Amino acid sequence: MRHPLVFAISCAAASTLVAARESSGEPTLGELALQKVLGDSREIFGVYDDEDEDEEGEHPYANWMSRVPDSTPLAHLNIPGVHDAATWNYSQATQDMLAPGVARCSGGSGRPAPAQVYRTQRRGAAAALDAGVRFFDLRFAADALGQGLAFWHGGALLSAAADVDDVLFGFYAWLERHPSESVLLSFQYEGGTREGAEFDGEVKGRLKRALGEGEEGSGGARRFVRRGGGDKGRLGTLGESRGKIVLLKRFDMEDEDEGEDGEGLPGLHLSPAKWPDNNPDGFELVYNATSGERAFIEDYYEPTIGSGSNSSVAENVRAKMEAVKAHLEIAAAATGVARDSLFITFASGEHNDNNPPVFPQTMALGNGTEVTPDGGVNHHLATLLREMRGSRLGVVVVDFFDEPADLVGLILGS
Ligand SMILES: *[C@@H]1O[C@H](CO)[C@@H](O)[C@H](O)[C@H]1NC(C)=O
Ligand SMILES: *[C@@H]1O[C@H](CO)[C@@H](O)[C@H](O)[C@H]1NC(C)=O
Ligand SMILES: *[C@@H]1O[C@H](CO)[C@@H](O)[C@H](O)[C@H]1NC(C)=O
Ligand SMILES: *[C@@H]1O[C@H](CO)[C@@H](O)[C@H](O)[C@H]1NC(C)=O
Repeated sequence: MRHPLVFAISCAAASTLVAARESSGEPTLGELALQKVLGDSREIFGVYDDEDEDEEGEHPYANWMSRVPDSTPLAHLNIPGVHDAATWNYSQATQDMLAPGVARCSGGSGRPAPAQVYRTQRRGAAAALDAGVRFFDLRFAADALGQGLAFWHGGALLSAAADVDDVLFGFYAWLERHPSESVLLSFQYEGGTREGAEFDGEVKGRLKRALGEGEEGSGGARRFVRRGGGDKGRLGTLGESRGKIVLLKRFDMEDEDEGEDGEGLPGLHLSPAKWPDNNPDGFELVYNATSGERAFIEDYYEPTIGSGSNSSVAENVRAKMEAVKAHLEIAAAATGVARDSLFITFASGEHNDNNPPVFPQTMALGNGTEVTPDGGVNHHLATLLREMRGSRLGVVVVDFFDEPADLVGLILGS
C-alpha cells in the first residue's frame, strides 16, 4: 500500500522519466518506481488499450481539449464523466478474494451485497481518459489497517492493493503526457471500513497529505492539482486548468471556508450537507457564498415508482431518463448566471432493492431481453444526445461509459 521509495522521488524526476527512457535502454530507478506504483493502481485506475497507443488514430478524443480556446470557462464545456469510476474490475471474484474482515461494510451485517450492486463500469480510468472522459467520481474511506485511503463504493472495499496515492499517480502520469487536457476529480467520503468509522482528523490528515498544497502535501499534488491564492471556490477557465486536476470536494473539512491562507485543500467544495439525497428534480448548490458561484446537479440515482419495490426495468429506465432529459434541457437553455455555472447531470442509476433488482448495469444497458427492447439509459441517452447535438450540456456522468461506443463522442457533441 505504501511506497516510501516512490514518494521520495521528486516531481522533476517523474517529468524526466520519458526522456530517460529514450536516451538509454536501461530503465532508471525512477522509472521502475513509477512502473511499480502504476502496477499497484491497476485494479482501480485500470489498464490502457494498448501501451504504444496511436492516440489520435485509435482515440480521437484523447486530446479533445487542445482544440478549445484557453479563455473558455470550464462551465461552458460538455464534459463526459464516469460515475463510481473505481469499480471497473469489481466482480464477485474480486469480492470473494478480499478478506471478509477487511471488505465488510461499516456497521453492516459483515457481508457486502452481491458484486453487481457495486459495479458501475467495466473500463477503468486509463481507458476512460483516452476515450475523452474528463470527470471522475471517486469514493474513498480510511483503509482498514489505518494506513492510507482506500477506494470504496457503498459497503464494499474495491481493492486491497490500490490506494488513493497510487491512483493519483495514474492521473499525474496521464496528464504529463496530455498537457492540453484538464481533469475534474470528485472525491467523496464513503463511510467507513470499520464499525463506527468517521471522517475524523486522522482521515482528513491523510487527505491533506494526498492532495494538499502545504509542506505536508505530496509533491505530485503540488504540481498537478490546480491551486493558488484566490483559486479556492472558483471553477475558472480551461487555460488555467490545462495539465491539471480540478478538485471537487464532496466532504467537509473544518477549515474549508477559511479563505486564502493556503490552509485546507484547493478546489470546489460541494458539501454533502448541501447535496439532497436522490432528489428527482435536480438542485442548486452554492459552493462559494462570496462570489455566488454555484452548481446545478441532477443525481436521482434510485427512481421511486409507485409505493412498492416491484417496478419493471423499463419503468426504472424511463423514470431515470425523464430526470436526465429535464436537466439537460435546463443546461442547454440556461442564460445568465446559470449559463456560467457548472452543470452536472448524473445519468447513472439503480434500483438494487427492487424485485427483480435493477442493478447499475441493468439500468445503464438494459437487461438484454425483450424486457428492454430499446436498451437501457445509455441507449436512450445516445438518442437524446443526437437530437440535442450542438447544445451546451455541462458534465454528463454515466455508468458503463463504453456502451454504446459513440456515447462519449455524443456527449462531446461530435
Ligand atoms: C481483476 O479482478 C480479477 C478478479 O479478482 C483479478 O484476477 C485481476 O487480476 C484483476 N485485474 C486487474 C487488472 O487488476
Ligand atoms: C469565493 O470567491 C471569491 C471571489 O472569487 C474568492 O476570493 C474566495 O476565495 C472564494 N471563497 C471560497 C470560500 O471559496
Ligand atoms: C406492484 O404491487 C402492487 C401491490 O401488490 C400492485 O398494485 C402493482 O400493480 C404492482 N406493480 C407492478 C409494476 O407490478
Ligand atoms: C430481465 O427481466 C425480466 C423481467 O424482470 C426477468 O424475468 C429476466 O430474468 C431478466 N433477464 C436478465 C438476463 O436479467
